[in-house]
Amino acid sequence: MASFNSTLDLNKVKVSTQTIAALSLDDSKLNSAMEKLEKYGFIIISNSPGKTVTNDEIRENVLDLKPLFGTAAYHIRADDDGVCPIGNFIAVDIATKEKQTKKMKGVCKATTSDEHEPHTDSTFQKRSDEFLSLTCYQPSLDGGESYVVSGAAIYEHIKKVLKPSQIRPLFRSDAVTFTRGEESATKAIFTKDEKTGNIVLVWRKDIIVNKMDEAVHPDAVAGVLAMVSFIEDERNHAVYKLQRNETLLCNNGAVLHARKSFPDDQIRRLDRLNFFTIGSGAKLDGRLQLGFKEQHTATATGNGMLGKKTGDYKKAFPFPAATPRNSIVLSTDIDGGSCRRLSIISQAA
Ligand SMILES: [Fe+2]
Repeated sequence: MASFNSTLDLNKVKVSTQTIAALSLDDSKLNSAMEKLEKYGFIIISNSPGKTVTNDEIRENVLDLKPLFGTAAYHIRADDDGVCPIGNFIAVDIATKEKQTKKMKGVCKATTSDEHEPHTDSTFQKRSDEFLSLTCYQPSLDGGESYVVSGAAIYEHIKKVLKPSQIRPLFRSDAVTFTRGEESATKAIFTKDEKTGNIVLVWRKDIIVNKMDEAVHPDAVAGVLAMVSFIEDERNHAVYKLQRNETLLCNNGAVLHARKSFPDDQIRRLDRLNFFTIGSGAKLDGRLQLGFKEQHTATATGNGMLGKKTGDYKKAFPFPAATPRNSIVLSTDIDGGSCRRLSIISQAA
């Protein structure tokens, strides 16, 4: 998976289709869309660009994501289809489940016009949602842009600025406790899937930053602080303002998603529908993996692997399918940067 920052050319993650149903039936186009999702961890789907559509037609696009991505994930405000409305039309206090006026903004940021800082969804639940979708019915006139932060870039950053002894606690199963109202979950911030080698990220700063002592394991504090400064840096934000009938679709463990604030007297309306894909039997089950691949950076002379056996290289550098035999990717830094390869002659070859 390629890491990215604010310079990412968003044309690389855009997918254009008449409808989600049409995309589902077009294997070539669907494959191309999934390659983008696998590479960057998110895509922007433009449905019927330039055409006038009804709200019912947009809702149909939202629901037609289910046969592709799987079972709808739980949300406390979701309807019977698992769809959760996003907008500043009302605020809901999750603790009391009471609807509040706009002036009494509740703890559920999705129902406010405030900035919703970079996060993964379902941090409060034991099992994290796997893929998420946000489909726009009405963008606000001003502000309200969505933005995405690369999990691979975050991980690359902490490997540069932290010691291994500061990174390891971020993998602790009790690294952080996320609590919102009655919902609470204690989790690792990074989890490595031993089957795929992928790393799955969980993050929501606003819940923990003002109570680091109680929410964050002491050993994980340095790592959390390093992550906060990187994630808050606008140079790491890929920003896009969703238009009507456009969908932001994210691998929930690979990227963080966020929303900029907008004027409270303007309307911004989206539907959220998240999925459990793995094992669901959906069309993309078996194709998609959770989280991101760790990117291995090393110098040509300093990786200490030359002269070792083929098996050792495989352990140290998971080979992408497209990597030619006897070559390893040494650097796949920020998208748009150079991608250098070094040929290695294996003793076992
Ligand atoms: Fe979210």
